[in-house]
Amino acid sequence: MSGEARLVGLGMSTIDVLASTEALPRWEGCAPLDHLCLDGGGMAANTLAAFSKLGGRADFIGVYGNDALADLKVGLLAKAGVDTSEMVRLAEDEPAVTLVFVHSTSGERTFASTGRMRNRPLAVEALDREAIINADGLYLDGFHPQAAIAAAEWMREAGKPVFLDAGRPENGDDLGMRSLIPLSSILFGGAGFGAAYSGEKDLLDAGKFILSQGPAVYVETLGEKGSWTFSGESVFQNPAFAVRAVDTTGAGDVFHGAFLLAWMEGKSLQEAGRFASAAAAIKCTRRGAQAGCPTIEEVKAFLTER
Ligand SMILES: Nc1ncnc2c1ncn2[C@@H]1O[C@H](COP(=O)(O)OP(=O)(O)O)[C@@H](O)[C@H]1O
Ligand SMILES: [Mg+2]
Repeated sequence: MSGEARLVGLGMSTIDVLASTEALPRWEGCAPLDHLCLDGGGMAANTLAAFSKLGGRADFIGVYGNDALADLKVGLLAKAGVDTSEMVRLAEDEPAVTLVFVHSTSGERTFASTGRMRNRPLAVEALDREAIINADGLYLDGFHPQAAIAAAEWMREAGKPVFLDAGRPENGDDLGMRSLIPLSSILFGGAGFGAAYSGEKDLLDAGKFILSQGPAVYVETLGEKGSWTFSGESVFQNPAFAVRAVDTTGAGDVFHGAFLLAWMEGKSLQEAGRFASAAAAIKCTRRGAQAGCPTIEEVKAFLTER
């Protein structure tokens, strides 16, 4: 690839309200929080923000509302260097606000949100086909399924790669996700996705099954246990770097953005996995999925110290 790699993403973007605490609130109680802040979030949006912060060119397609939170959401993406000009404004307040409880000691998180963001699908007619196929790759997270399927088909007709974050194990039952998996060249799954989708308990068998369904590469991330990458040529593990995690929100999304940038710039899958593990580890030491994503200089410095 000559020049800056360009990735277009289509999917979810949110405003995350991040509350760090040891214990979840209970009725009749008053939960003391260790920290409370706002950041941009959402799977595909985080990955595109990471891709941009690490030095790539990123365009994001999704929806946003007509209020101040929506403006903040788009403003944070723009601040991360993401082109948001193809985002579609809705005539309602921001539908994608997520409450994220972050465990103060481990940095692990759990989400709470309304279903409203899932019920605001982008129509295929809202997409600019040329703008999509001009990119070097397309990144999807399963949101806006009809638009995502159309965009993936255009990209494949143009001979360009589609990357998909399948996310959690239960997403393997989602019809949109099931349609997208065979269209993807690199598939990412969270811990347990491969087993749930393939019905194979052993991750090695699950990886082999996924490669028989279309993707040339399958990467399953396992939090502190690192990640496994499967391709026709090799199967290998990238260990996670040991860090003091304060907030793991967006670790997977940053991993995906970093992995794709390295791979699109011509690095091997192994090198891409090591680079992505470093970017994701640094992210875990900071709050917020987007604000917590490091720059390329920070990842390089981290890797030279290891
Ligand atoms: N506590 C942690 N310490 C160091 N690296 C981590 C930690 N949690 C996640 N990572 C890194 O981020 C990657 C993605 O994390 P994972 O938890 O699988 O994604 P998700 O954000 O979907 O929960 C892992 O493969 C690992 O490299
Ligand atoms: Mg995790």
